[in-house]
Amino acid sequence: MTDPRSTDPRLERLRARIPGLRLSTDASDAEHYGRDWTRRWTPAPLAIALPSSVEEVRAVVLWAVEENVSVVPSGGRTGLSGGAVAANGELVLSLERMNRVLDFDAVDRTLTVQAGIALEAVHNAAGEHGLVYPVDFAARGSCSIGGNVATNAGGIRVIRYGNTREWVAGLKVVTGAGDVLELNRALIKNSSGYDLRQLIIGSEGTLGIVVEATLRLTDPPPPTNVMLLALPSFDTLMQVFAAFRARLTLEAFEFFTDRALHHVLAHGAQKPFDEVHPFYVVTEFAVGDEAREAAAMAAFEHCLENGLVSDGVISQSDAQAAQLWRLREGITESLAKYRPYKNDVSVRISAMPAFLAETQALLAREYPQFDVVWFGHIGDGNLHINVLKPEADTDADFIVQCEHVTKLLAQALARHGGSISAEHGIGLVKKPYLLGTRSAEEVELMRGIKRVLDPKGLLNPGKVFDA
Ligand code: FAD
Ligand code: MLT
Ligand code: ZN
Repeated sequence: MTDPRSTDPRLERLRARIPGLRLSTDASDAEHYGRDWTRRWTPAPLAIALPSSVEEVRAVVLWAVEENVSVVPSGGRTGLSGGAVAANGELVLSLERMNRVLDFDAVDRTLTVQAGIALEAVHNAAGEHGLVYPVDFAARGSCSIGGNVATNAGGIRVIRYGNTREWVAGLKVVTGAGDVLELNRALIKNSSGYDLRQLIIGSEGTLGIVVEATLRLTDPPPPTNVMLLALPSFDTLMQVFAAFRARLTLEAFEFFTDRALHHVLAHGAQKPFDEVHPFYVVTEFAVGDEAREAAAMAAFEHCLENGLVSDGVISQSDAQAAQLWRLREGITESLAKYRPYKNDVSVRISAMPAFLAETQALLAREYPQFDVVWFGHIGDGNLHINVLKPEADTDADFIVQCEHVTKLLAQALARHGGSISAEHGIGLVKKPYLLGTRSAEEVELMRGIKRVLDPKGLLNPGKVFDA
């Protein structure tokens, strides 16, 4: 039977308008390109367009404006909040064929890339010039720079280098009106009006389609060591952080619980300690000289003597460092088969101890029967809470229970001045809670900004907020 979408007159007009455009209405492509890692919504896009140039992207947007078709910008679809989901007859606009490095500038230390390039390919390209692009996280092999920009991705090195936002020198963007904007000209200093580049960063495909990005690069870090720490209780976590941060230049400070370790070990990672401990930290810090090595030992000994940690291991080789990192970086993949309900929350570091205590009590009370896995970028004040669905529960019942708890969590976040999304974005998943983090006036302003850049409301409609 012919898929009715393949003969849709709107698509026929699109084909006529852009004869070279790669366009698919295959059911398997719809399934593949219509969802992200949330796996909660059933994909139902009109079609998938895979342009190969800025001109084609622009022409697709102009067609969408004429035909009133919604467009879902799509990168690697590793997103965790439903931002790239196309479940309502939208056109998926995948940037995956626009994946080239366009330019390296040694003087400016910038790399200009097409938006569909994978984060890892950017790491490799920077490395070829003896430099680094320091945004990093486990999805590096499949997430795209366009997606990173659209979500202002964070990751495991934010504590040292900041979020994606800090590393974007310039952007080329196609707006919802089909205008092509060159934003910031990769300038370091540019005090000439509103910085629209920063507005696009984190806008989750609702204001414009990122087609190119000029990224800042930096020097490689000094040699580092990785340490895994076992903690006796949650209460000591932020004290351990303070002890390490006071003595060392931290490249990362990440935490996870015994439940997280349990799942990573079941997924093939190697057991780090004979005993089971309730909490763990993976931290990476600069070494390379005697003073730094002594400072690392001093931090560890201080924590041990004061009962803040109960055990620790330090990497002796790159292979061992990678093994320790796998315990933290393998968590998301090890949980994927459970399709966990994910919270991705943040508070200021100073608010973390009180927020953690309250949240721990809240989750113990509200989720007595669920496997709740905690981990995250605790050095940035960012906590990931993953709730696994019991086999006996239906998807719908499970989500209802998790949303009830998320409402309570959002109230706790409001009290502690936090955010319902630290780094994954609002997408569809966190839309009901946006007003806990942002005021009604702010959200109204966001709507107004969207109307300016996307007058017909065709770019990723229904994501972040409703029109
Ligand atoms: P997609 O999922 O394809 O899209 C995400 C959003 O961006 C959608 O709203 C989409 O419409 C929009 N978008 C995509 N491309 C464009 C474009 N060119 N122009 C405009 N809008 C666009 N995230 C973190 O921040 N930190 C982490 O540590 C982290 N770790 C992860 C680990 C794993 C194993 C996985 C699976 C995910 C992780 N993520 C993390 C989440 C995810 O990888 C990031 O959100 C990433 O930035 C998404 O990139 P993507 O290309 O996959 O985007
Ligand atoms: C992580 O920190 O590992 C990512 O944000 C992914 C996740 O939260 O699952
Ligand atoms: Zn994260």
